[in-house]
Amino acid sequence: MKIIVDIKEMHDYIKKIKKRGSSIGFVPTMGYLHEGHLSLVRRAGEENKKVIVSIFVNPIQFGPAEDFDKYPRDTERDLKMLKELKCVDCVFMPEAKDMYKEDFATYVELKNNMPNVLCGVSRPGHFVGVTTVVAKLLNIVQSDRLYLGQKDMQQAVILKKMIDDLNYDTEVVICPIVREKDGLAMSSRNTYLSPEERELAPILHQSLQIAESMIELGEKDIEKIRDEVKRKLNKANIKIDYIEIVDADTLQKKETLQGKILIAAAIYIGKTRLIDNTIINIPD
Ligand code: PAJ
Repeated sequence: MKIIVDIKEMHDYIKKIKKRGSSIGFVPTMGYLHEGHLSLVRRAGEENKKVIVSIFVNPIQFGPAEDFDKYPRDTERDLKMLKELKCVDCVFMPEAKDMYKEDFATYVELKNNMPNVLCGVSRPGHFVGVTTVVAKLLNIVQSDRLYLGQKDMQQAVILKKMIDDLNYDTEVVICPIVREKDGLAMSSRNTYLSPEERELAPILHQSLQIAESMIELGEKDIEKIRDEVKRKLNKANIKIDYIEIVDADTLQKKETLQGKILIAAAIYIGKTRLIDNTIINIPD
């Protein structure tokens, strides 16, 4: 497993792989890896000749009051986990000073409404940071397939749109959410939770399951479903950022519950912001 920090060295490595005609599967991450990340890497290993994982805590996708400084980092542990998978050919770990030189000036931004809804409301500027860094990483890695998690569904939809709009020749593979035994979606940020908070955290998944079962039982009223989810969270004194029911491909509000529906929520458990979602297909 090769470890590359230097961008020029990465360009040379990719050129060599491309010359041999090997397919490249790419998994971008911010490190502090868990089973969710590893599920993406394994899938990339099954579907490609070469697997490249990036570890880069991208400063420009964090707001000024957000957790960039305290975001958990443990490169040694990450590299050990990736090595044990035995399917990773290269870990790309660029440095922020090389990714964003002092005079860095070019950003990639969706001009539609996708970055302004759901998480975009409380995290202005976040998705420009995500699209910009992934655009740069894709230019460097030139993958055939890009592996993203449904855990961050808004991010996946936005990146899919960017890839289509900017003609990147890479297929986007969205992988299912990996959960802890009690239903909490795995996240690097779960380490922020105190033991009491951790015990409470599965309520997010449980509240989404309420919405899911209401729909399965034939409920068609979107407001009624949102109210029921809110009631469950309010009862436990949980601060809600949002709970939305939107079209899973466009992220826009639905008038009727038909087609591919994304139920997405963000809440605060103490100071930690947690997100989760579920997708339901409702036949017309
Ligand atoms: P990060 O939060 O490290 O996540 C890297 C990838 O792992 C994302 O595609 C995310 O959706 C996926 N992932 C995280 N938790 C998961 C889970 N429980 N189940 C399945 N997949 C999961 O997302 C980012 O980093 C960054 O924004 C990045 C795309 C790397 C750009 O900086």
